[in-house]
Amino acid sequence: MLGLGTTNSLTMDKPHSDSLLDTGAQGAISRPFDRIDGPKKVSGSATYAAEYAFDDLAYGFLVSARIGAGKVVSIDADAVRSLPGVIDVVCDFKRFIRVAGQGGETKAPTQGVQEIAFSGEIIAIVVAESYEAARDAALQLPVTYETDQGVFDPKANREAAYTPPDAVTPGHFAQGDVDKAMAEAPVSIDVTYMTPSQNSAAMEPHASTAVWEEDGSLTLYGAYQMPTSDASQLAKSLGLSVKKVRIVSRYIGGGFGSKLGIAPESVAAAIAAKQIGRPVKAVMARQQVFEATVRRSDTEQRLRLAANANGRLTAIGQESYVSNQPGEDYFEPVGIGTHMIYAGENRLISHLQIPVNYVLSGSMRAPGEAVGMVGLECAMDELAEKLSIDPVALRKVNDTSVDPEKGVPFSSRSLTAALDEGAHRFGWERRCEPATQREGEWLIGMGMAAAVRGNMLMESSAKVEIHPDGSATVSSAMTDIGTGSYTILAQIASEILGIPVDRIELQLGDTNAPPAAGSGGSWGAGSSGSAVYLACERLRDKLAKAMEVGADTLTLKDGMAIGANRSVPIGELVGEGLEATGHIKPGKQESETTQASFGAHFAEVAVNVVTGEIRVRRMLGVFAAGRVLNAKTARSQCLGGMTFGIGTALTEELYHDTRNGRLVNRDLAEYHVPVNADVPQLEVHFLQERDIHANPIHAKGIGELGISGAAAAVANAVYNATGVRVREFPITLDKLLPGLPNMG
Ligand code: MOS
Repeated sequence: MLGLGTTNSLTMDKPHSDSLLDTGAQGAISRPFDRIDGPKKVSGSATYAAEYAFDDLAYGFLVSARIGAGKVVSIDADAVRSLPGVIDVVCDFKRFIRVAGQGGETKAPTQGVQEIAFSGEIIAIVVAESYEAARDAALQLPVTYETDQGVFDPKANREAAYTPPDAVTPGHFAQGDVDKAMAEAPVSIDVTYMTPSQNSAAMEPHASTAVWEEDGSLTLYGAYQMPTSDASQLAKSLGLSVKKVRIVSRYIGGGFGSKLGIAPESVAAAIAAKQIGRPVKAVMARQQVFEATVRRSDTEQRLRLAANANGRLTAIGQESYVSNQPGEDYFEPVGIGTHMIYAGENRLISHLQIPVNYVLSGSMRAPGEAVGMVGLECAMDELAEKLSIDPVALRKVNDTSVDPEKGVPFSSRSLTAALDEGAHRFGWERRCEPATQREGEWLIGMGMAAAVRGNMLMESSAKVEIHPDGSATVSSAMTDIGTGSYTILAQIASEILGIPVDRIELQLGDTNAPPAAGSGGSWGAGSSGSAVYLACERLRDKLAKAMEVGADTLTLKDGMAIGANRSVPIGELVGEGLEATGHIKPGKQESETTQASFGAHFAEVAVNVVTGEIRVRRMLGVFAAGRVLNAKTARSQCLGGMTFGIGTALTEELYHDTRNGRLVNRDLAEYHVPVNADVPQLEVHFLQERDIHANPIHAKGIGELGISGAAAAVANAVYNATGVRVREFPITLDKLLPGLPNMG
């Protein structure tokens, strides 16, 4: 290749005020392009982790422990080896991973499966000539255990709770004196909210197909959000150099955090494939996804709010209990949004982790905000009522342009604008006093809540090549988990290079490509989008040089380079081809500004006064997340988040059997995510915003913004409809019924 690859690297130490996305001539950016991977997905030709074919492929079925705590004494492999089709029973007590990896970790997850830390732990894998044969043998495999006394009820293990080490949010944060402010304030509330364990419940179960090459290297086709760090987790689990591990994760049927780290099927498939000398595919049964990957922790949140008569907050307290397995420090960062959403001098935002023998708790869509904003925003609703202030006005009075804890400015913040726009569009002025609106058997109510989601930039890189035929290829270990990464990355390249989107090929989800942070924490678009931007910026400079014009006078559009009164096909300019790599990493802007996306949710519900049945009638979300890269995929992200909010408010709850920690509801029939009939027409509106502190594309994270506060808006609407305040989620009809007005 002629133009040997160069790297354009940027550390975000300074604001980046000019963006090529504002000056591009192609008009590709922000447009509501259909997903470029859509036709492949709906026609079944997109290859998912469990769909790679090999002639000598063997099928693995995982064996799940059936006790809640203790150890495996023996596994009688001989008892099933002679069953039809069975190839082998593979178990490696030392190297099998006990729990899934946490997002972004580069070390191996906790290994060792002779000890049982929770019901459903994966202890072995049976490999056979067919999935059915493997499953049949796995379910018959005799295993003997020695049972220990475990901890199966977090509420009964409070005395063992500890402050977890700081992670994405501090374990414990105190400023001023909340007790004193509470005692002195004219108005205060002190309430406790509870949310249950939840599961991401992605459509595609966790799956890995492991293939060993002649040279001792491993290729794992897996359904993983963060292939670069996942490859490191996998290599360390297996005792391999990371150079020997390649992860391919081109299409992912949803992850929502459950696929940030590697799950037990990956290591099991790799070890089994090595042992039998054939490729092995291991797909988790739906029940195993629930039992052996990750849950979102249950939370118990004490909310204390104190305010002046005008509604200005003087104290914010959110003290949470969360839970995880003994020795696992990840904690649900309940207070993460509370740190920055409202002003108020006295603050106490803390977490206490309770050890419990349940499936690992880890990241699930908008870790922290998704449940922390339930407690905070319902408590704000309670405070507004006590103050006789409109809930929207209460939020506005407490808006702040400066981070209330760090004292630094927000990079961009449109909370008040979102509240105003939402109130206007929703018809908020028509809201009435609680339990006063009735249509026959139905009580009608409106509720609202604010939304916040921290913005993160993660080190990422991408390579862009322009070919002699004028087409281009973008490659990166970045993934698309259904969010639209393929499409927005193509749009960014298209806008800067003036090459139509349909002439840009995307090669994502492969660790052979330049490393990237992948999809998680809503950082994917900003981080990988910036890497693509930087590669294209370098290529644009090279094209200008080839045109013998300054980069600022070059126009690139529809495959043509235009400058100094001539117009040349881009393909001709690049000779045998041109490539560049873009690389971005966070810098001083991360500490010099506080970065977050903001929004506001509004919901209207109807509650049946006889049965307590709750129907969400309509919902509106107004969001500001910097530049919207694709109006359609961005909107879809928010629709998904709002739907998650309906689930959190009304239906989603994992039940743990407190005798042995087993999950009682561990499939999609029993664990209730909202279905089509539960979700009304949702409306999403974006505010114009640019964030020059976030990255060169001026976009902030959007994926997880839509869920933040969504459940609280629904819950507050239920209260407005009925006058019944339920503080234990989800709000099921049994909790409403005792308080509903008499039918009379
Ligand atoms: Mo997200 S919970 O970081 O996939």
